[in-house]
Amino acid sequence: MNKTVLAAIIVTIAMLGFTYAAVEMAGGLDKFLKDGDWVNMLAIAGAVVLVIITTFVVTKYVRQMQNDTASGNLAEESWDGIGEYKNEPPFGWAVAYLGLIVWAIWYFLAGYPVNSYSQIGEYNQYVAAHDTKFNEQHKNMDDETLKEMGESIFIVQCAPCHGLQADGMNGQAADLNTRISEASVKHVLIKGSNSNLLGTSMPMPDRNGLLNTATNALITDAEIDAVSKYVANGLKADDAAGAAVFAGTCAACHGADGKGMEMVAPNIAQMSPAMVDMVLNHGKKGAIGAMPAFTNLTEVQHKAVNAYVASLSQK
Ligand code: HEC
Ligand code: HEC
Repeated sequence: MNKTVLAAIIVTIAMLGFTYAAVEMAGGLDKFLKDGDWVNMLAIAGAVVLVIITTFVVTKYVRQMQNDTASGNLAEESWDGIGEYKNEPPFGWAVAYLGLIVWAIWYFLAGYPVNSYSQIGEYNQYVAAHDTKFNEQHKNMDDETLKEMGESIFIVQCAPCHGLQADGMNGQAADLNTRISEASVKHVLIKGSNSNLLGTSMPMPDRNGLLNTATNALITDAEIDAVSKYVANGLKADDAAGAAVFAGTCAACHGADGKGMEMVAPNIAQMSPAMVDMVLNHGKKGAIGAMPAFTNLTEVQHKAVNAYVASLSQK
């Protein structure tokens, strides 16, 4: 008998043996019959058929590889005696190839889920509809209710990082009770900042771009220390050294009182609603780390969180 056929018979018997062992381990054919478990019976029958078909097909092709000789017209080129047949592409392949092109065009233009139903699309529609309803329903809240809503949003969304007291939990996130910490100001002065705080991509220059117009020199380490303390302490007039650096270096952009200028530089004296909105929309990277953006909050929720954050820094 041919060796290939012999190997195929041995493999078939072995695989049927494994199938039998698996059935025995699952309780045996008797049990399935007794229980009338047709699903498992069908699975077993399927397994047996698959084993037989697989070995039959594999054997057929292995034998074909062993025995077949090629025939047909040789192309004219020959590379060191290795030639190429001029075979027609199989008809089925050609049809499938053209069919796929047609299908691809259809899929690209019409079939792709962007243009038709998708679960994500349906979910987004529901969320958008709910947000509209929510915004409409809570359009006219008084300040107190707004703040309460803000507080409950804060406890769920923000407190995990900023702490229930909004004190930043030992420097894990920004302390929202004051505008900005000394370390954060210093970080910004040394490294610059590009957190989109203005809603434009206007960056804050790093120390190589901060010229003190009073001394006409780049800002020094001592000046960075002095002005950082000044800004973090809320720009108090009694700090002459810090105030001088601020007037000479920062006021041109941030304003003499530090309250910022639209499209030029943000308010660094107080927590402003515009700043909180920007941080919510874009997130923020700084001395402490990164805060993720909160684009899932609705318009009203933005207002509410803002009202709550504003109430914190007034304490
Ligand atoms: C050329 C204009 C310009 C000058 C001069 C300038 N700033 Fe800024 N500053 C900006 C801009 C713009 C931003 C917002 C950057 C961003 O979006 O991250 C910024 C951001 C900041 C922030 C970060 C605010 C936050 O919430 O993260 C601090 C702090 C700051 N500036 C302090 C200073 C100090 C102190 C000086 C003076 C030593 C100074 N800046 C000089 C333009 C300026
Ligand atoms: C995953 C943690 C995390 C969550 C959640 C989070 N924050 Fe923050 N937040 C931070 C970190 C970290 C910073 C400081 C970024 C930096 O280094 O300047 C920050 C900074 C801020 C700032 C800027 C403060 C400043 O002076 O520049 C505001 C405002 C803010 N968060 C508000 C919120 C609000 C409101 C929420 C809830 C909707 C929230 N955060 C949720 C981590 C978080």
